[in-house]
Amino acid sequence: MKKIYSIFILILLFNTTQIMAQDKANILVLIHSDNGGTYKLAKEIAKGIESENKAISYIKLVKPSSNPELKGLPVATVEELGTYDGIAFGSPVYFGNISTGMSEFLSKTVALWTNHALEGMPATVFMSAGSGAGKELALQAFWNSLSVHGMVLVSNGIRGTEELNKAIPQGNSVLGITSMASLKDVERPSKGERYLAELQGRNFAKVALALRAIQPEKNIPVMENPENFNEILKRKNIILPQVPKPAGNYQPFVRSGNLVFINQVALKDGKIFYPGKLGIEVNEQQVKEATKVTMLNVISVLNEAVGGDLSRVKRCVQLTGIFNTKDDYTKHADLMNTASDLTVEIFGDKGKHARATLGASSIPVGSSVEIQAIFEVE
Ligand SMILES: Cc1cc2nc3c(=O)[nH]c(=O)nc-3n(C[C@H](O)[C@H](O)[C@H](O)COP(=O)(O)O)c2cc1C
Repeated sequence: MKKIYSIFILILLFNTTQIMAQDKANILVLIHSDNGGTYKLAKEIAKGIESENKAISYIKLVKPSSNPELKGLPVATVEELGTYDGIAFGSPVYFGNISTGMSEFLSKTVALWTNHALEGMPATVFMSAGSGAGKELALQAFWNSLSVHGMVLVSNGIRGTEELNKAIPQGNSVLGITSMASLKDVERPSKGERYLAELQGRNFAKVALALRAIQPEKNIPVMENPENFNEILKRKNIILPQVPKPAGNYQPFVRSGNLVFINQVALKDGKIFYPGKLGIEVNEQQVKEATKVTMLNVISVLNEAVGGDLSRVKRCVQLTGIFNTKDDYTKHADLMNTASDLTVEIFGDKGKHARATLGASSIPVGSSVEIQAIFEVE
């Protein structure tokens, strides 16, 4: 088992695309959140961490979320946990316990446990509750799991509680901050809960920095999951446009079994980008740019079809490019390469596809290009 794990780490090293800051304490803020309450606390924790100027925070989810507030956040892999200098864990309270999403993620950490990968790493916990019923049981439950990993659990004690407005219920606990989201007497997290979350983050960063200073240098870079296509988009500064609204009685995409069908034209910010016929109103360079706009629309719709988690894309099956050209035009393939190259740039081998290109005497709404795409998804 150990051997397999070591080989796996080696593969990760070879595939590394993002190196963590070497001279700083890299701290993961790992959360599950359904309605965003835990995320709100996570942002305060991260603010506290970053107030220590030698610490960097990375907020990541344990699983993809379709909540618009959380949709763009990266999803952590189990394998990357061992590469941080500390982890702040956040979860909603579910029946006096950690949430199912967090529990599922932790249940996948057996290989890390067997290999002592988290031993001696500092951890701290925070939770978003409803009424607060069983919140300390839940925090304690969090500690139980992390103790089995041998993590160094960093508590809050009564740090900062003298600053709390005692006239309203607050989610302070000696184990970690909570917020009581369903108590609507004030906006939640309350000012006091936010304050304690930030203090928790700052104190946690201090502990992580101190422990880092006495531990051997971790030269394991953070792995960017090569399948995490949303992260790849971010790294390449590729911004997906808003999903274009259908202009007729049809859906932006249809999923049938594991296949997703998408058709798009060169709509950008509500207008057609470089409209017209190639060789008359537009030139090849302009049509190529319109093709890129069209393919980005396709990927934006695809992103919606997989609930904001492009790692669920198994492959691009086929692209069909239709171009508004004169009858004697023959270089459709050159134009379409813009879309194909973009697809491979984002999805790697999974972006390689079968392809058809053809010319048309007109395309709806004056677009110079239309792309039909078929993707296989999980
Ligand atoms: C299955 C389930 C069980 C819950 N159990 C509790 C509980 O025992 N105590 C409590 O205070 N809130 C409980 N809640 C409420 C959530 O903890 C609360 O809505 C929390 O703010 C959600 O966090 P989020 O906004 O990050 O998703 C429960 C919610 C669900 C869905």
